[in-house]
Amino acid sequence: MTLAIVIMAAGKGTRLKSRRAKVLHTIGGKPLLAHVIAAANGIVNPADIYVVVGHQAEQVKAALADTGVGFVLQAEQLGTGHAIQCAQESIAGYEHIVVLSGDVPLIRPETVEALWAFHREQSAAMTILTAIPDDARGYGRIVRKAGQTAEVEAIVEQKSLTPGQEALPEINSGIYAFRTATLVEHLNRLTAGNSQGEFYLTDMARILVDAGERVVAIEAPDAGEVLGANTIPELVALDATLRTTAAHKLMLAGVTIFRPETCVIDAEVEVGPDTVIEPYVQLLGKTKIGSDCLIRSSTVIENSTLSEGILVRQSCVITDSVIGKGAKVGPFAHLRPGSEIGEEAHVGNFVETKKARLGKGAKANHLTYLGDADVGAGSNIGAGVITCNYDGVHKHNTVIGQNSFIGSDSTLVAPIRIGDGAYVGAGSCITKEVPANALAVGRSRQVTKEGWAEAKRLSRKKDS
Ligand code: UD1
Ligand code: CA
Repeated sequence: MTLAIVIMAAGKGTRLKSRRAKVLHTIGGKPLLAHVIAAANGIVNPADIYVVVGHQAEQVKAALADTGVGFVLQAEQLGTGHAIQCAQESIAGYEHIVVLSGDVPLIRPETVEALWAFHREQSAAMTILTAIPDDARGYGRIVRKAGQTAEVEAIVEQKSLTPGQEALPEINSGIYAFRTATLVEHLNRLTAGNSQGEFYLTDMARILVDAGERVVAIEAPDAGEVLGANTIPELVALDATLRTTAAHKLMLAGVTIFRPETCVIDAEVEVGPDTVIEPYVQLLGKTKIGSDCLIRSSTVIENSTLSEGILVRQSCVITDSVIGKGAKVGPFAHLRPGSEIGEEAHVGNFVETKKARLGKGAKANHLTYLGDADVGAGSNIGAGVITCNYDGVHKHNTVIGQNSFIGSDSTLVAPIRIGDGAYVGAGSCITKEVPANALAVGRSRQVTKEGWAEAKRLSRKKDS
């Protein structure tokens, strides 16, 4: 049986009070819609996924351009029923469709699979995924047919509930399966005669029942999975659920996370066993951390790869970088994109690196900037050393050999090469190549005047 998945994502999200389209708001480091597409990908090929876009359609399409899904335009957002009407042509060739909501992001493919299986088993025209959450307010409610049956009579929106219906505990998740031909046959019977003046997809339940079709409901195993993100507090609550799940998974795999509720860990992050993560750490994007590392508090690591046995002290910012085994970084170090810190290397406090490679055991322990630089193994970069990599127009490279020593407060004006085993005297401004094993000193000579201070004090006394 052929199946397409339609994701409704055209709405403005008025209740978010945001200028950005609702489905582009992120939780767990990814847009809401990307989560829903990931779930859909677990069931059908991207070519069989249709996303209904409307509000900020261009931005939404751009954000999902690499997913391979199809797009349907709902130029005017006249309601969820209208969204599906707009998709009629795209879905015509499929026997069934599953409809997902772009703002119900925690849905798991297994649950969609169960809905789809139940829909076929029941030979239903419409199958509704439902849940019984702690608080049903705000959701459409399921009115079941009397008796122990899977059959549904109608879905009633919150705003249309009669006083007697307010206590109905079972909610509509906004996720459904439909037999396409039957849906399309009756789809034009939707009217906008409700308080919102919208075409509600939920009205299809009553319309199909009245036409003698079978409409059933199946309850999701976990109500948390079908919660919607309509307001910022709801969005933040879903984000917390994702972060907690990610942290919990890592902890069960042997990672110690102290105060996990304070940490932000994206879903794709990998961490090896026996690594300890202190409070207020953020591990983002495709970050990978090996085993036996200690990540101290307030550090933020994004899209970076850390090997084993690494110590990252407090308050470091590490982005798009790679750190080798046994290295020590921080506190307060800033590793910008393209930094490669070698095995056993040390990067200390207030050191900034960008496109910089430090060889094995190299050290830059204090107050240094290394940009577009290559530092050989075993070299020592003194406090306050600066690579002057930018001439106002172009960036230039600094290459420092192995086991060399760059004295404190030196500036290395790139492009520049310092050979293996060379020394640079403290306070030097180096503009010319320093050969291997040489000493370069580039500073004005010290002048010492014996007795000068005493003479000055004496002359002052005479004047007064
Ligand atoms: C909807 C359901 C409600 C259910 C809830 C579950 C309707 C009328 N109500 O309410 O029964 O309990 O979801 O979360 O369907 N959209 C469009 N085009 C539109 C309007 C909306 O594509 O013209 C999209 C939105 O972007 C969103 C989804 O449809 O992703 C749901 O719309 P929303 O306005 O959030 O519906 P709810 O009021 O939450
Ligand atoms: Ca919603």
